[in-house]
Parts: sequence; structure tokens; C-alpha cells
Amino acid sequence: MLPLLVLLTGPAAAPTVSAASLFGIADYTKLLPYNPDIADPNYIVTGYRVIVPFPCSCLGLPADPASTFLAGSFPYTLSGGGETYGDVASEFANLTTASWLAATNAEPAGKLPAAGKINVTVNCSCGDRSVSRRYGLFLTYPLWEGETFSSVAEHYGFSSRAQLELLRRFNPGMDGASGKGIVFIPVKGKASQADGMKVDRSIEFSYEELSDATNNFSMEHKIGQGGFGSVYYAELRGEKAAIKKMDTKASQEFLAELKVLTRVHHSNLVRLIGYCVESCLFLVYEFIENGNLSQHLHGTGYEPLSWTSRVQIALDSARGLEYIHEHTVPVYARYGEVSPKVDVYAFDIVLYELLSAKEAIVRSTEFTDAQGLAYLFEEEALSMPNPKEALQELIDPRLGGDYPIDSVVKIAYLAKSCTHEEPRMRPTMRSVVVALMALSSKDHELTRGQD
Ligand SMILES: *[C@@H]1O[C@H](CO)[C@@H](O)[C@H](O)[C@H]1NC(C)=O
Ligand SMILES: *[C@@H]1O[C@H](CO)[C@@H](O)[C@H](O)[C@H]1NC(C)=O
Ligand SMILES: *[C@@H]1O[C@H](CO)[C@@H](O)[C@H](O)[C@H]1NC(C)=O
Ligand SMILES: *[C@@H]1O[C@H](CO)[C@@H](O)[C@H](O)[C@H]1NC(C)=O
Ligand SMILES: *[C@@H]1O[C@H](CO)[C@@H](O)[C@H](O)[C@H]1NC(C)=O
Repeated sequence: MLPLLVLLTGPAAAPTVSAASLFGIADYTKLLPYNPDIADPNYIVTGYRVIVPFPCSCLGLPADPASTFLAGSFPYTLSGGGETYGDVASEFANLTTASWLAATNAEPAGKLPAAGKINVTVNCSCGDRSVSRRYGLFLTYPLWEGETFSSVAEHYGFSSRAQLELLRRFNPGMDGASGKGIVFIPVKGKASQADGMKVDRSIEFSYEELSDATNNFSMEHKIGQGGFGSVYYAELRGEKAAIKKMDTKASQEFLAELKVLTRVHHSNLVRLIGYCVESCLFLVYEFIENGNLSQHLHGTGYEPLSWTSRVQIALDSARGLEYIHEHTVPVYARYGEVSPKVDVYAFDIVLYELLSAKEAIVRSTEFTDAQGLAYLFEEEALSMPNPKEALQELIDPRLGGDYPIDSVVKIAYLAKSCTHEEPRMRPTMRSVVVALMALSSKDHELTRGQD
């Protein structure tokens, strides 16, 4: 039997190689079938968890061979000298600890001999028949900083009371653990991570249900059209919903992301209720009746948005995105740095649209596409000798001149920084929030001062 192990990869250029070699696996491509989400085996982002299969056997303590435990044992060659068990343990990202290494090796703790060998012992589990006979295969999952027993339980879909209780009984003493310690996660059947990645069935809609609720996706139900597909209004299971019919097909990665999105709840985010993957991909969101941004900006029958509300909208949207970025890291870690930086990139358009009320040309995801609103701001205002004057030409006339021009200039530059060619130079959503907060409180003082 090959129980599974989850570990941290280092920042090295080819971490899959180093991950494999830590566990004595000569050919790292052997790991690929266990890690279907790794697109490029030669490059994995730091903090990505790689699944490594290893044999779980019954071992005894050197000092007391009758005291047995289940573990995998990996020979480790010490380097230059002066290494401690703590140093070795730190390479294994909380899969083992200094004291556990000291207990499972004959070599006394302290400075270990140069070029000597020790065994790195990593605990594992083969289940417990008194808890359940259905599981014999377990992931050894080390908690990292910021993770708790419950967050991991949730991530692997142990959400109902009964499932949570099962996980607790497989991990006595771990309830409430955070940042360290090992959680054994039961995996059914074949060693596939995809099992843990299934989206909850409760939020899966059938195509028939969506089609019935929208009169076969008829024009009367269509309420919007965006870069990703069309949006339809429907009443589903007693709730008003907006169904987004996506142009793309669902990939395993996307389903993993979806799983996270259905669990984030934030007052600045529209709640994702569910999805449907029959024939094409549908996302089902709660329906918000306030009208969308473009209706508020140029729709008839809507009051013109004041400067303060525009800054507030920018801030609220930035907070929503920041929340996703900061609280759903393991999802995003899968895509490396790309996703959050793409969101930041697209955020410039929200800002430019709020300033000018001009329709953003739906642009392709190609970063080189210089057309549209961003082009207008960057080429015809910000790169002019007098950007302040040029910006006044682009500002929404419905503001009636009632705006602090310095804040406009700051927002325009903030928007521009979001599209920096080098993703690493783009601000994080958190710094966008901080910048907008500073502006919104300053503008508040300004308007109060005028009262
Ligand atoms: C491994 O298991 C043994 C026996 O249950 C326990 O004493 C030890 O603390 C565990 N080590 C780690 C690193 O979890
Ligand atoms: C490592 O473990 C193996 C078997 O589990 C044992 O034969 C060997 O002596 C151990 N090596 C050390 C340095 O403790
Ligand atoms: C491992 O656990 C320690 C606490 O014992 C924690 O400070 C450290 O950040 C953890 N390592 C990782 C990679 O999270
Ligand atoms: C929806 O489409 C299906 C097949 O295309 C058709 O059989 C059905 O009658 C349509 N329903 C309505 C309400 O138009
Ligand atoms: C906003 O609402 C209007 C009117 O329902 C619609 O025409 C437009 O496509 C919507 N915009 C988006 C981005 O969905």
C-alpha cells in the first residue's frame, strides 16, 4: 500500500526534482500521475503541495523497539557538519520535527557529524478499523502557518457534521490544532487528488434545471453580456439568480477554484451559488437588483454617481478582490503569481470607467492589446506634458466639475500602475485598497471642510 504524503516544495528552479530527491525518488516524472494539476514539472511555485507516495510501515523506536508507530523512513545524508535535527526537520516543511528525529535516530541530539546519515521519519496512517473500515489510504498533511485543522477539513470537503466527526476520530488530539502538526486525511480508493477536489454536489445544477428556469436561455431572460459569456436571470429553488453561461469549458483547475469561490462570503462580493458543467460551463450567482455599474454610469433613469460614491465603489470592489486574493491563497498558489496579478491588471479598467463613464472596449486577455479605455488614459492624458489638464477632458461630464482633481490624477496613476508590463511591479490588491482608502478619507475631509 502506498499512503500519500503532502509536502512543501522549495523556491529552487526545479523543485519537483528536489522534492523527489528528498524522498529518494530517482525519477521525478514518477510523481506526475499523483499530481495531475502540475502543468510544468520543472517549475512549481513555492508553497505548492506535491503529493509523494511512500510505503507506510510499522517501525520501532531505537531506544525501545517494542514501542511501535507507523511511518515512512527516508535516509538523509548530512552535509558539511554542524547540522542539527532542527535543520533537517526544517527541510521537510513540518512533516517531521526535531524532537521526533531525535527520538527515532540513535545519534544524540546536538551538532550532528559531517557526512553522516540519519533516517528522516515521517508519520503516516493506515486508518483505524474501529473508526471506519472504508478508508485505508491517508494523506499525511502537515499544517503550515495560517492553516488549522478545520480549514484543512473544509478544503478537503469534510464539511458536514458526520464527516467532520469522522476526520476528528482519525486524528485524535488534533482538533483545534493550527500552524503545526500532521492531519491524516482519508482518501477513498485510487490515489487521486481529484477525489478531494470534487465540488460539493449540493451546489451542482442540472442543465435541465437551468434551461427550464430561463425558458431555454431565451432573450427575455438575458440580462447581460461580458467578456466571458452571457448572463441570464432566473428564479432557482426559490432564489433570484444570475446565470453566467461561460464560453470556456470547465477544467479540473477551474473546478478547484470554483470550490473556493462557493465558500468565500464577503459583503463586497456577489455570492456564487453553484454551477453546472453539462454541455458547457454555467456559473450561478445570487442576483443583485441594484443594477450593474454600467447602468449606474450611463443608464437612463439613474442618478449620476457622485465622486464620493465612485471612490466608494472602487474601494468596495478592491476590497472584494483583496479578500479573494488574501483568503484563498492555496487556490491561487496553483497558478503561481498569475491570477491575482491578472485581476489587478483588469482593475485599471474599473477605475478608468468610474472616472470617465466611457464604455470599456471588451479586450482580449492578451496583455499587448493596447486598444480601448486604458490606451486613451495612458496615451492621451498621462503621457501628456500636462496630465492634469488632459485628464479633465476625459472626466465624466455628469460629475459637473464636482470632483477633487488631485484625487483624479492619483486614481489615474494608480490605474496605470495596475497594468505595469512586469506583473511583479503591479501593486497588490491590498495596496490598491490602502491607496483608495487614503483618497476616500481625504475627500471626505475635503467635503466636510466645504460644508
Ligand atoms: C509521530 O507519531 C508518534 C507516535 O504517535 C508521536 O509521538 C510523534 O510526535 C509523531 N511525530 C510527528 C512529527 O507528528
Ligand atoms: C534507517 O532505517 C533503516 C531501516 O528502517 C535501518 O536499517 C538503518 O539502520 C537506519 N539508519 C540509521 C542511520 O539509523
Ligand atoms: C512549521 O511549524 C512551525 C511551528 O512549529 C511554524 O513556525 C512554521 O512556519 C511551520 N512551517 C511552515 C512551512 O509553515
Ligand atoms: C427547449 O428546447 C428543447 C430542445 O431544444 C425543446 O424540446 C423544448 O420544447 C424547449 N422548451 C421551451 C419552453 O421552449
Ligand atoms: C448591465 O445591464 C444592462 C441592462 O440590463 C445590460 O445590457 C448590460 O449588458 C449589463 N452589463 C454587463 C457587463 O453585464
